[in-house]
Amino acid sequence: MRGDTIFNSDHGLQYISEEFTEEKVLSARDPSIPELLADGWRIAHRSWAAQLDADKIDRAALERLVVTATRDGALHIRPVTDRDVPAVLDLDGPTINAYPGGVATRHAALTPKPLPTPLRVGWGIFDRGDPAPILAVTYLDLMPGDDPKCTPVAAEVDFTVVHPDFRHQGLASGVKAMSVLALMEAGVQTFRTGGAVENVGILAANRVLGFVRDEEWVTLER
Ligand SMILES: CC(C)(COP(=O)(O)OP(=O)(O)OC[C@H]1O[C@@H](n2cnc3c(N)ncnc32)[C@H](O)[C@@H]1OP(=O)(O)O)[C@@H](O)C(=O)NCCC(=O)NCCS
Repeated sequence: MRGDTIFNSDHGLQYISEEFTEEKVLSARDPSIPELLADGWRIAHRSWAAQLDADKIDRAALERLVVTATRDGALHIRPVTDRDVPAVLDLDGPTINAYPGGVATRHAALTPKPLPTPLRVGWGIFDRGDPAPILAVTYLDLMPGDDPKCTPVAAEVDFTVVHPDFRHQGLASGVKAMSVLALMEAGVQTFRTGGAVENVGILAANRVLGFVRDEEWVTLER
């Protein structure tokens, strides 16, 4: 998405890429879609969003996912701190083009920014070593409540990524499970996530965590 121009149009967010491709991300139920298709737009990508409510969480199931991901404690799972940011960048850079789908499901390459902040947190699975290499990471944005302490009430996953050599071993499921368990303890009531329809890995991970798909999106291009 780097270099893209983004602006609000009548039909939601609109993007113009450096290659001068225009892109719009719309709800799949948006009534203007047939008209746009007739006008030369085409559906380039489909994506979804899903929700997990704290009162529906199967805590024991999530704890099992954490144990599996960490190989019974051989790997470390913990919040990402400032000290880990270089390792996160080392994972993010080479995997930035690994996200299926289009503008709706990509994320902008990370830059060195402090973490955690009151509204952004991350969890990682780390191998042994100092500095410890990071094998999987998930970042979430938090929505504060209106109590005096601004306790977060909702969390939205920004991205989750696993080192290519460590995929299919439950790391994505485990690191997301850990973030949900910890944030639920901190008072978060609602978790949201999303991805591209063809991203079977993250769809499966979300399903095992208990996320329920509730929105479908299309990315139109011309
Ligand atoms: C998507 C991604 C995070 C999955 O990570 P992972 O650690 O391999 O996922 P898990 O091992 O926890 O797998 C979760 C489930 O999906 C399945 N799965 C994982 N990747 C899969 C794939 N490419 N095709 C089919 N199934 C897959 C696993 O078998 C598992 O199913 P199970 O619970 O029935 O055993 C990883 O492939 C990745 O980093 N991709 C690039 C970035 C990305 O797309 N992130 C997600 C959007 S934010």
